[in-house]
Amino acid sequence: MVKVCVVGASGGIGQPLSLLLKLNPYVSELALYDVRLAPGVAQDLSHINTNSNVTGYSKDDIEGALKGSQVVVIPAGVPRKPGMSRDDLFKINAGIIKGIVTSIGEYAPNSRILIISNPVNSTVPIAVEQLKAMGKLQPGNVMGVTTLDIVRAETFLVDYLANVKKSPTRQYDKTAISKEVTVIGGHSGKTIVPVVRNELYIDSLQDQYAEFIHRVQFGGDEVVKAKDGAGSATLSMALAGYRFTETILRSIHREATTPIPTFVYLPGISNGRQIQKKLRNEALEYFSLPVRLVDGRVSAIDASVLDHLSAKEQEMVHTAIQELLGSIDKGKKFVIGSS
Ligand code: NAI
Repeated sequence: MVKVCVVGASGGIGQPLSLLLKLNPYVSELALYDVRLAPGVAQDLSHINTNSNVTGYSKDDIEGALKGSQVVVIPAGVPRKPGMSRDDLFKINAGIIKGIVTSIGEYAPNSRILIISNPVNSTVPIAVEQLKAMGKLQPGNVMGVTTLDIVRAETFLVDYLANVKKSPTRQYDKTAISKEVTVIGGHSGKTIVPVVRNELYIDSLQDQYAEFIHRVQFGGDEVVKAKDGAGSATLSMALAGYRFTETILRSIHREATTPIPTFVYLPGISNGRQIQKKLRNEALEYFSLPVRLVDGRVSAIDASVLDHLSAKEQEMVHTAIQELLGSIDKGKKFVIGSS
């Protein structure tokens, strides 16, 4: 049984994510931490009659929340408003993540750390550098959550295919189609690279393929605009964050899991150097690719998806890498420059 800690548990993502985790049978203790309201959210969830115990911790007790946690999920920090890019969040969220990860290094150094806070392309490097500086880095434990891009890609692919003539959706069910798409790269605009495994689908989409790609890369903007200043994706993100966390929990319980993409520190993973070579950029330290998990930690990267990229997908990977290098560097410098 596992103690899971949600840091940022009272927020738009944190609350529905905590609700979903309250329903998971593998969670024995759900520790909710936030700088505001966490004891109230915990009290509310504690009235649900699933087996886990829920505890809420206030601002001055992150130690109590983290101690004994095997999994820490972090949706803490400010979300976007219309007109903002994820990078615009750096100024505030970089410091928040650095502070939270410092506490994790002190109180739960062996936990799997699942980072939702944006910009993921920089917050994951901040976490890694901070743990490195503390002598506490276990690279396989630090994962940037990019699952929402996959959820969107699956949804949009099915939506588009449903509208084209001679659509393969007439022959296959939606779940089967959703397995034919994944997303690699990073988690922001052009760093998001949707990969459609079955060329038949790309052929079917024709001129809607470009639209599909754009919607996956910039789908977050649709939500930010529609919420009109009240934040970004929360409910779909809670589902995506849950899907990722659930996979980690299943792996901890020795269940077989299929490789799931996450944004990781390549040099710290067993076959990371090979992946850097495969991506033809040995200076690239972070990238999201499907990973193999052992005990809920990244044990190796499954880069087979890179072997079958179309020319267009290869071009998108190249563009993603150019942008990622800057965001990664910004995250690293935030820690190295301030230590
Ligand atoms: P929100 O503002 O509704 O909630 C954030 C919560 O974090 C608040 O309850 C706040 O009190 C708390 N918080 C702030 N500083 C904290 C600290 N030092 N320690 C603990 N808690 C702290 O924001 P929302 O919508 O839940 O988004 C949270 C983050 O997730 C944002 O950075 C957003 O950009 C990101 N996000 C990431 C996605 C992804 O795909 N990875 C998708 C959508 C959002």
